[in-house]
Amino acid sequence: MSTQTPTAEQPERKDTWTGQTGFLLAAIGSAIGLGNIWRFPGVAYANGGGAFLVPYLVALIAVGIPMLWLDYSLGHKFRGSPPWALRRLKAGGEFIGWFQVLVCFVIMVYYGAVIAWGVQYMIYSVNQSWGDDPQGFFLNDFLQTVDGETFSWSPVAAIMIPLALVWMFVLLIIGRGLSKGVEAANKVFLPLLVVLFLVMVFRAIFLNGAIDGLNAFFTPQWGQLSDPHVWLAAFSQVFYSLSVGFGIMLTYASYLKPKTNLTGTALVAGFANSSFEILAGIGVFSALGFMAASQGVGVNELEGLTGPILSFVTFPQIVSMMPGGSLFGVLFFASLVLAGITSLLSLLQVVSGGLQDKFGFSPVKASMVLGVPAMIISLSLFGTRSGLNNLDIVDTFINNIGVVSTAVSMAILVALFAPRLKGLRTHLNSVSSVKVPKAWEALVGVIIPAVLIFMLFSAIVGYIQEGYGGYKTSFVLIFGWGSVAFAIIVSVILTLLPWSHHSVDAATVAHLVEEDEDALVNATVSGAETAEVTREGGAS
Ligand code: ALA
Repeated sequence: MSTQTPTAEQPERKDTWTGQTGFLLAAIGSAIGLGNIWRFPGVAYANGGGAFLVPYLVALIAVGIPMLWLDYSLGHKFRGSPPWALRRLKAGGEFIGWFQVLVCFVIMVYYGAVIAWGVQYMIYSVNQSWGDDPQGFFLNDFLQTVDGETFSWSPVAAIMIPLALVWMFVLLIIGRGLSKGVEAANKVFLPLLVVLFLVMVFRAIFLNGAIDGLNAFFTPQWGQLSDPHVWLAAFSQVFYSLSVGFGIMLTYASYLKPKTNLTGTALVAGFANSSFEILAGIGVFSALGFMAASQGVGVNELEGLTGPILSFVTFPQIVSMMPGGSLFGVLFFASLVLAGITSLLSLLQVVSGGLQDKFGFSPVKASMVLGVPAMIISLSLFGTRSGLNNLDIVDTFINNIGVVSTAVSMAILVALFAPRLKGLRTHLNSVSSVKVPKAWEALVGVIIPAVLIFMLFSAIVGYIQEGYGGYKTSFVLIFGWGSVAFAIIVSVILTLLPWSHHSVDAATVAHLVEEDEDALVNATVSGAETAEVTREGGAS
């Protein structure tokens, strides 16, 4: 075991962001992902159109930004990946940290598959290979999907090949380390994404019928605001889209230099992500308006406005109908791929950071250790003829149960079991331009956990009573509940393994917490709280 002893003055992070811009680009790159392009427009449309923007903005301001501040403060103050940062907070916190890492692992194994579909569709767009039956092409020719009753290990080369390439590409980037890998990639990919996407949206809003699509998207159905499901949909969307509460932003913030404007950066990242999301809604619904006008129907009569079908069936239909469609298709799918890659890198960095912190691996070794199982699981579950069904079930359960559980456990840990909200707020305010009000503590410590527990409870009861998506119960058990169980079991194992990199004996943690507390520029933490914090930290 190494005797290295980290202190507040000597953060053990050797590789950091080269500056605030690099961090901001990576944070925005992580937030802008598949969730913005394919998820948001469909969710908004299904939940009240323009009226959805009200719960969405409320969720952003009341939950998204406060949780982003929590992630940033934990990562920055405790300078570690989730297991290390939350262990420093309280011994038992390590398990919650690993649970966040495993949730990221589960998300990334299917996320890569959707990017691989995007790569293929970028190529298919050139000749519009789907012909006059995009739905049949997507389900039967491309994915070769079996029905929801059947499981198949049969590989699909058209998915396996780009999927393996996507994995090799991102693992190479992660192996280069944070600044030379993740930061450098985001500096290229994010600006490119914004340019391509703007060109795509600009083209879309000038299509014939675009205005009808925009009306459908923005016309408020105020009645929907009294439906609690609409509010739940808004909260889930904000969590997923902002990448908050499941380790990503905590990890990214741990690589920041000690003097960094945290709260202002979070506001910029949050609003940039939402602006992109609304832009995606404008682009997608303009194109849908064009499609409806071409078919002589209303936008509300169109089908296939959510998830993979929206992107991989409805969009190709639009591409085939419009002049210059091939270029439009290439732009759309290239945007999807770029947005996906920058988010996938952030998911990978959480896992890589966790392994580096606990086992002292180099970035290359961490990339190999996580890459081999990730590739095997990803290819065997999502590169096969059952891939679409497996993906649908895993995605739903890991987001609605896994992500929400990790977020709520972290909030409860920080509010109740290792009460540090006051200290974290002091930390945020000591380095940031925008000052965090005291109300933040009540929001993060009481209101947000209460909302999250309600969300979690509704989801669990719903799945137990009704199953999911009409799939066989055994599939829902294996892939849905199984993916959550997998994350929990592996987290327990990793928590039980010994630390090889840091000296994390009780004295070290107590010392660290004390040093850290003392180092606060505007320290206002009371003596009683500091004593409590030190005692809690020392409990490890
Ligand atoms: N924030 C990422 C997305 O929106 C995970 O896809």
